Amino acid sequence: MTTQSVARARALRGKPRLPGDKSISHRSLILGALAHGTTEIIDALDAGDTRSTERCLLALGVKIRKSGNKILVEGIGSGRFAPPADILDCGNSGTTLRLLMGALAGRSVHARLTGDASLVKRPMRRIAEPLRMMGADIELTRQDFAPITIRPAAGRLQAIDYELKIASAQLKSALLLAALSADGTTSLRGEILSRDHTERLLPHFGVPLQVSPTQIRLLGGQKLEATRVRVPGDPSAAAFWMAGACMIPDAFVEIENVSLNPTRVGFLTALKRMGAMISTELTEEAPEPIGKVTVESGELRGIHVAKSDIPGLIDELPLLAVVATQAQGVTHVEGAEELRVKESDRLEAIATCLRAMGAEIEVKKDGFRIFGPQTLKAARVESFQDHRIAMALSIAGLVADDSEGPTIIENSECVSISYPDFYPTLQTLTQGGSS
Ligand code: S3P
Repeated sequence: MTTQSVARARALRGKPRLPGDKSISHRSLILGALAHGTTEIIDALDAGDTRSTERCLLALGVKIRKSGNKILVEGIGSGRFAPPADILDCGNSGTTLRLLMGALAGRSVHARLTGDASLVKRPMRRIAEPLRMMGADIELTRQDFAPITIRPAAGRLQAIDYELKIASAQLKSALLLAALSADGTTSLRGEILSRDHTERLLPHFGVPLQVSPTQIRLLGGQKLEATRVRVPGDPSAAAFWMAGACMIPDAFVEIENVSLNPTRVGFLTALKRMGAMISTELTEEAPEPIGKVTVESGELRGIHVAKSDIPGLIDELPLLAVVATQAQGVTHVEGAEELRVKESDRLEAIATCLRAMGAEIEVKKDGFRIFGPQTLKAARVESFQDHRIAMALSIAGLVADDSEGPTIIENSECVSISYPDFYPTLQTLTQGGSS
């Protein structure tokens, strides 16, 4: 077990270097593996979760070469995946497991997939059910969980017209990946307004699709052509420095090369609504909007976060709870029951730890209410082996009263799932520099 101590910060200054966006990195690897030709991915995230995707693709016979900040993926094109010798281990990565379910469902491969102690507790029926409606042969453990067995389907997959009941980009993407090898046009409706990286990347790989606010339509059987993808910085990683800069008295943080995809800026928007001093500048538009974000300290007030806001900041909600403790008034989050089935039950995890730091937080089945401002006190807290909880608690540690010793985060090594350089970056910024 690794523990990390975090002292109260007097300042947060500098230009943090961000890891590549996790969602775009997974998708670039998987779409590259399906394409004709060799895809070049620049600045992809190199962390636990994306290594899980790489490891699974390698076990499926995909050739992946890495040098410096570049990954070359030789796609299978009209060929086939190799039958993996062993069960595919997706580690802690829900995106790996769920997207691979969609990618493998219609590709005549027999594969078993599993993950770590957290991943085998997360729901998978939501993906398997619609894939089965398309004709996929998928067996789950206890009807909902990994380990999962995928067998070659009896015939070709058939397109479906499906209404998503959960705003999950993993579900949406799994269905689009399966739709690529299905006969006919798949149509997705309902809760489709989650992160849209798959919809943006498919045309970049030469596969057009129709996207409207109410429907996504994709014709199966189209050929993916290898391409070059430059992965922008991850806004979910940038969020930690934005939050820190809002709360720490002497703060000025400039974050360059960060994705400003409208489906990912929910936390930034929430901070602006809280009164934070944030400015953004767009530097690139397509296929992903990228830009610069500048944040400095300021007064914060509580806000209401409604169900429709949740997909845009789903991974940042534990961090929002931390910020809410420092804001004047009530912060109320609703419609976030999905937080209970992430890498940990994130509502319980963040509430338990913030309470250990002296905060009062009212937890509901689908959200929380926090009355601020509250004084946080440094304490020994548990990460629940969840990278986003560990990092949110570290930011809480930066504003906690440490007169009786620093905040100690147990099992802090899990930050390497999405941000291996998180602690070195934190140290540099608290000493006022660039990472
Ligand atoms: C992701 C989608 C989100 C998010 C996860 C990454 C993706 O999950 O929480 O970290 O890359 O598609 P859901 O699709 O379950 O909402």
